[in-house]
Amino acid sequence: MSRQKASFKTEKEFQEAILQEKVSGTPDLEIGQKYGVTFKYIERLITKSQGVNVSAFKISKKVKTLYPKDFKEEQTTVWSFKQRGNWATHSGEYRGNWSPYIPRNIILKYSKAGETVLDYFCGAGTTAVECKLLGRRCIALDINDKAIELARENIKFGIESQQLAFIDNKIHSQVYEPELSVGDARNLPSLPNNSIDLICAHPPYANIIHYTDSKEGDLSFCDIGEFLKEMTKVAKESFRVLKPGRRCAILIGDMRREKHVIPLGFELINVFLNAGFKLRELVIKRQHNCKTTGFWYANSIKYNFLLLAHEYLPIFEKPISPVLLDIKETEVDYSLIIPALEKPTIKRRLDGLETTTVWILPEKDFEKRLNKNVIDRYSNGKGYSTISFVSHSQSEANTTSRERQKGKGLLFIRAPFLTNNPSYSGIEFYLQEIKEIVNRELPVISEGGFIVIQTQDVRIDEYIELLAKRVVDLLTLDDLWLKEIVVVTQENQNPKLQATGEYLKINHQYLLVYEKVDSGRLQR
Ligand SMILES: C[S@@+](CC[C@H](N)C(=O)[O-])C[C@H]1O[C@@H](n2cnc3c(N)ncnc32)[C@H](O)[C@@H]1O
Repeated sequence: MSRQKASFKTEKEFQEAILQEKVSGTPDLEIGQKYGVTFKYIERLITKSQGVNVSAFKISKKVKTLYPKDFKEEQTTVWSFKQRGNWATHSGEYRGNWSPYIPRNIILKYSKAGETVLDYFCGAGTTAVECKLLGRRCIALDINDKAIELARENIKFGIESQQLAFIDNKIHSQVYEPELSVGDARNLPSLPNNSIDLICAHPPYANIIHYTDSKEGDLSFCDIGEFLKEMTKVAKESFRVLKPGRRCAILIGDMRREKHVIPLGFELINVFLNAGFKLRELVIKRQHNCKTTGFWYANSIKYNFLLLAHEYLPIFEKPISPVLLDIKETEVDYSLIIPALEKPTIKRRLDGLETTTVWILPEKDFEKRLNKNVIDRYSNGKGYSTISFVSHSQSEANTTSRERQKGKGLLFIRAPFLTNNPSYSGIEFYLQEIKEIVNRELPVISEGGFIVIQTQDVRIDEYIELLAKRVVDLLTLDDLWLKEIVVVTQENQNPKLQATGEYLKINHQYLLVYEKVDSGRLQR
């Protein structure tokens, strides 16, 4: 039966009725229909009344199993967990909490038993629970006292030190109770310099989910610019408290505004690099709650946008001593070798197209499927051209004359930078080439047309050079808007794709999709 607001004497009574429904376990969708309220309204009401943003009340904390079944550490740069994980006291009750598989992988890879892990965005304590299960000391802080209360409930489970014996192949492991307290990630006065072995944290993304009822210092209320400014303080404190040579892992996603992507992930990476960190790994974390059928599929095609389906997990390292860039390599050169100008021969077929920002394509037909998706989605049925880069030495330089034609719908620059020998000077040359091609070709792209650039991260010495971010930083033309950042990876990962030594195997590429717009008509 519908119970609209007008049928209640006061707003308070109306809200109490909704909260009562939550206590009895009525699903949000049903509450929304019955009371004529949005999901956001329910969320705000709960956060206000409970002091925390939780999806359900009274979740059972009974532990069925302490450890995940058949757990294997991730080996490549694409992490994908179909189930969020519900061992120990983990549950999805705290909105926007991270899957325990993420801190578990980070803790096992980058710390040893007995070392100290810091999570300054503790939330409901997922990292703290994992530290307790894995024999690590944990310091966890959150701006919200109610979140800390919830985390205290979550770390209340029994575990014997013998149960930790198999972790890290250690015979003697110890259980450490996590230290939880209210605190501000921007200012960590209780932590001495160089005292932490690992930082593992998941910030509230700029103004997406609100974690408190506008508590002072809650970064979830900051808009993008302010969020990045406040995160600069967090990065600085992280650098100060972390021991040299140790790691700091931060989960962050992109945002969408007016059908264009805001590369918040790359922006936040910049913030940490500017604080003095080096990028040790960049992991792509797939999201599985994206709707890829029916209504969403149709709208993704109709309005030509992709559903955000990935987040970034940069793993930074505090260098042992400040690292100076040494640019000396000269060997690598890039040239245009395959110019092609074609009109699509078949009528645009939009079925079977990818609709999220993660494209998982079969190894066998990888190139074909990649081309089909890019061309079908972004050529608008007009002419398109493809330019491919390959790396080779100066002596093999190869140029071909190109046909130029106005009004092209798409330029696809295939430049994955897959050389085995990347160098800093090679990267500079590569970026310069991309910029030159874009500047030269932009006038022949029609308004509303696209430039799609394929690229891939490379590892030089021990660190990741994030080429997609470098390209995004490079292309700041007023009439070229970043529309999508797509991650492309192969289906059925080859079992040979193992981490090499201590490093993850880079197993993803990017497509940076730019739209040509009328800079006079649209404001950035
Ligand atoms: C994405 S949630 C973390 C969720 C956590 N990883 C979990 O699994 O439960 C972000 C948390 O940051 C907290 N927060 C916001 N601003 C903060 C600040 N300035 N210092 C510390 N914590 C803050 C919020 O209260 C929220 O609990």
